[in-house]
Amino acid sequence: TLLLCGLANAAPSSTLDAVLERGVLRVGFDAGYQPFEMTNKQGQYIGFDVDLAKMVAKEMGVKVEFVNTAWDGIIPALLTDKFDVIMGGMTVTPQRNLRVNFADPYIVVGQTIVLRKDKAGEIKSFQDLNDPKYKIAVKLGTTGEQAVKRMIPKATLLQFETQDDAKLEVINGKVDAFVYDLPYNAIFASQNTGAVVHLDKPFTFEPLAWAIRKGDQDTLNWFNNYLRQIKGDGSYDRLYKKWFES
Ligand code: ARG
Repeated sequence: TLLLCGLANAAPSSTLDAVLERGVLRVGFDAGYQPFEMTNKQGQYIGFDVDLAKMVAKEMGVKVEFVNTAWDGIIPALLTDKFDVIMGGMTVTPQRNLRVNFADPYIVVGQTIVLRKDKAGEIKSFQDLNDPKYKIAVKLGTTGEQAVKRMIPKATLLQFETQDDAKLEVINGKVDAFVYDLPYNAIFASQNTGAVVHLDKPFTFEPLAWAIRKGDQDTLNWFNNYLRQIKGDGSYDRLYKKWFES
């Protein structure tokens, strides 16, 4: 009947169905956020999120396509269907959760401080930075920016489009500190021991999770069950060791 034809031709009702129909999972992230998503010398994307996204696509039986997007505009890009899911180390915050749905957290991190080495004597914690004479670099639109505004409000805040630019400021001594997610800062500091010091005690609580458009229970259900599976069967632990303990 007419009605049945109409139903058969209807647009897929979930992102999951759209992905299966397309044969491609489109993953949004902002590369340069080590060790979650980086570009190697051959120009390929590598990292913890990249491996997870490949595993997800393989399990769905589809190809994966990465859509590199500036962090500042990544939620609008998801909402306008530039990709299917954000797998980019996004912190679950109540404000973001008003606009997107999050799967269950796949890792928990927090903000830490990378300090100019010559400030290590006078600054021991985020509270010590709470003075207009201290300049703090952050990446635009991150929870690092939010944490500085909320918890270190008196410091002088400098926002950068990329984490690389922000990181250079502290290496070159133009700012006193850089505030970002712990795993990123741990690698950053270990590669620049001559110039910086890592205050590696996190001062925020930040579950990271995959974000999808709201109102899509089918896709959320698939992601959450998949996450529980890989956390239980050892495949998550193998990836974790590869990217965080080597
Ligand atoms: N966890 C932080 C946030 O949600 C930083 C994430 C940055 N991710 C990236 N792919 N550059 O704001």
